[in-house]
Amino acid sequence: MLSSLKKYLLVPKLVRLSSEAPKDPHTAWDQYWGNVNSTGAQGDVLWDAGDDHELLGYLEHLKRQMHPDLPIVDIGCGSGAFSRRLAAHFPHVLGVDVAPNAIARARTDSEGLEGISFLVADMTAPGAARSVAAALDAADMPGEANIFIRGVLHVLKPRSQAALAEQLHPLVGKRGRIFLAETDFRGNAVEYVSHLGATRHCIPAPLAAAIRGLPMPGRFGAAQRARAFPEDRWDVVEDGPAVIEARPLTSAEPERIPGYFSVLQAR
Ligand SMILES: C[S@@+](CC[C@H](N)C(=O)[O-])C[C@H]1O[C@@H](n2cnc3c(N)ncnc32)[C@H](O)[C@@H]1O
Repeated sequence: MLSSLKKYLLVPKLVRLSSEAPKDPHTAWDQYWGNVNSTGAQGDVLWDAGDDHELLGYLEHLKRQMHPDLPIVDIGCGSGAFSRRLAAHFPHVLGVDVAPNAIARARTDSEGLEGISFLVADMTAPGAARSVAAALDAADMPGEANIFIRGVLHVLKPRSQAALAEQLHPLVGKRGRIFLAETDFRGNAVEYVSHLGATRHCIPAPLAAAIRGLPMPGRFGAAQRARAFPEDRWDVVEDGPAVIEARPLTSAEPERIPGYFSVLQAR
């Protein structure tokens, strides 16, 4: 058999694993985070490379494009790994996630740190912007905010992506900006998991946990961004390719997933 086709022998395994995922995405995310025992380079979380290398690449854009006196809201913050790194660069970071188990972990892992707080909210729901504004108020940071989103939009359906974008519009106001970075892998699900080290004999445990427990991810590039953030509502300040770094699976180095970044401002 042609070696490039061998990877398709993975299909039955993938179908079996993914059929175990809870159908409701919010339940799936909360269950997933409830089963996470450890984070970082040796941990359970697929998209957690455990170091700040990826963020260092974004800092140039964040510093050039974002008002440094505004707080930043980390949308879909998970365990807060990026929220804690952002805290060194903004007066306040508010991490928001739909999964109570993620926020519980983020709070524990951030104990003792100044200028950081967390909120449980579904950012696609009507009223999410009001909850975020109230949490910023409670942190003495009322008014406009910057927004950071990493690896969240590609796990949402197009309608939810657009709903989330609409909730962000009043939050950024005139001075705030959005920085988003998402995976934009050009290939099918089998090619994606093969890129991350899955073979028909073995699927690395953090990858298997994501396949078993989470909604199937899509890709989020310029075309998806244009649909979620329409040009009558948003200006693209900057965009281009990015590399999303994930937990080491195939070697001692972080996995590198082709991605897309964009800086946006509200019209
Ligand atoms: C792939 S993880 C990325 C976590 C974090 N941004 C990072 O890069 O480490 C996606 C996160 O989005 C959260 N999420 C999914 N849907 C959401 C929603 N509707 N509102 C808020 N958070 C959501 C999940 O619970 C999960 O923590």
